[in-house]
Amino acid sequence: MNDKKLIKAALEAKEMAHVPYSGFHVGAAVLMEDDKVYTGCNIEIASYSPTICAERTAIFKAVSEGKKKVKAIAIVGDSKHTYPCGVCRQVIREFGKDAKVIIANDEQDYLVYQLEELLPHSFGPEDLANSSREEEDV
Ligand code: THU
Repeated sequence: MNDKKLIKAALEAKEMAHVPYSGFHVGAAVLMEDDKVYTGCNIEIASYSPTICAERTAIFKAVSEGKKKVKAIAIVGDSKHTYPCGVCRQVIREFGKDAKVIIANDEQDYLVYQLEELLPHSFGPEDLANSSREEEDV
């Protein structure tokens, strides 16, 4: 699976965006450890707060099918380069500390980052697993 194919999958997912309030369409495609691709779009809800971003739709679909390691994610939106919001960066980090993040306008015009560049000095599962604070507190 190359970058362009992942971008194509994200562009197709963007078509499904349910955005009656913002009108801003986003699509995402995640490449998981077994090279399977899961796609997602943003879905907006009238009471606003349940709205979910495309990136999280895609990742939660993968995780709900037992895939827990993100190798790469491609994101496309209605702005030229749509970067993941802070919440989505944290969710990508949970399942892909070393993930490649592809911010695409189209299959020819895209930027490639490592998640670490977009969310430096992050907090993650290892912090909880390695925690010794609990013992100190008792
Ligand atoms: N949105 C995403 O889907 N991903 C992001 O990372 C940024 C924002 C969506 C949420 C909402 O439906 C619309 O874009 C406007 O914020």
